Amino acid sequence: MGLFDSLKRNSKPAPTRPNEQQESRTANSPTQRYDEVNEAAQVVERDVHASSGAEEAAVYIKASGDAPAPVHVEEEVYAEEPIEPAKASYVAFRDKGPVSHIIGQTKILAIINQKGGVGKSTTAVNLAAALGAAGKEVLLVDLDPQGNATSGYGIDKRDIDQCVYNVLLGETPIEDVILAEVGKGVDVLPSTISLAGAEVELVNEMARENRLKNALGTLRGRYDYILIDCPPSLGLLTINALVAADKLLIPIQCEFYALEGVTKLLDSMKRVKSVLNPSLDIYGIVLTMYDARTNLSKQVVDEVRSFFGDTVFETVIPRTVKLSEAPSYGQPILDYAPENKGTEAYNELAQEVIKRG
Ligand SMILES: Nc1ncnc2c1ncn2[C@@H]1O[C@H](COP(=O)(O)OP(=O)(O)O)[C@@H](O)[C@H]1O
Ligand SMILES: [Mg+2]
Repeated sequence: MGLFDSLKRNSKPAPTRPNEQQESRTANSPTQRYDEVNEAAQVVERDVHASSGAEEAAVYIKASGDAPAPVHVEEEVYAEEPIEPAKASYVAFRDKGPVSHIIGQTKILAIINQKGGVGKSTTAVNLAAALGAAGKEVLLVDLDPQGNATSGYGIDKRDIDQCVYNVLLGETPIEDVILAEVGKGVDVLPSTISLAGAEVELVNEMARENRLKNALGTLRGRYDYILIDCPPSLGLLTINALVAADKLLIPIQCEFYALEGVTKLLDSMKRVKSVLNPSLDIYGIVLTMYDARTNLSKQVVDEVRSFFGDTVFETVIPRTVKLSEAPSYGQPILDYAPENKGTEAYNELAQEVIKRG
């Protein structure tokens, strides 16, 4: 009657020393992956019973059929009060107040990984907020038709009639679309679902890969950082981001198959670099959704660090419920849960970014 019964039904008998077994594995076949999920589940279940005995504790694991989902461990409890998203307040870009400091060189960073659900939008929203809080001027560009960065800032897509789509198609100047002062030091170039059509509509246009680059180029000198939240694909929108960006910030989730697809992304980067954007390079790798209670998280951190070396930020973003709740309240975690470890982590990441220049 435990939380993980459905998972155990198809499993082998519990190993007595799961960590030892886990260490002896090298490959990542689906069966081994399934075994690892089971082992982790047993360890977590034992811990929960030992600590509180409460099955209702917010510790859960998702698994179905023969395609088990990654282990998801949580210690915190979800908020119970009804969700009332904060509504963003903003002004037109042209009515923006003066910037309090002299802007040096604008750095355009694409937050990119074609794998979905790795923490791109979470990192885009919260890094933007943390850089803004640290006194920087930031433009957050939402380049995903899903618009998670837009709604993560409490912007109601029903209230806006122009978005990054109109900019890419050359219909509207970027200054007319930017929502300024959405947060301290943060402006947003929003996305709506109409952006989904851009991939198709841009195909027959001239200089279709350069649209974002040209639009953002007019804003150099107006912002310290321009962060582009990319969609989970390697289509024309992502190519636009690769061409527009100075450097890439790649979030990697601490989970099975963490590096899956990254080679493909690096190939795309090299291709764009050789033809359209010679100075393109990796700016940094940020590890996300780290769970200190699982060996797996630690293994992924070690693996990614040994693969990418110093490119990997020291700061590792922990898995915390507050980070996943904040978007439904339309707030970055800095406002939603200022004392949370997620706030601390994104503030530290912002400091590392500022140091890297
Ligand atoms: N550090 C974290 N802790 C807990 N949940 C997270 C964390 N980072 C992201 N999430 C959640 O995981 C899901 C995927 O994250 P998201 O940033 O939308 O990924 P992507 O933009 O790469 O698709 C979202 O529901 C988000 O709230
Ligand atoms: Mg996203």
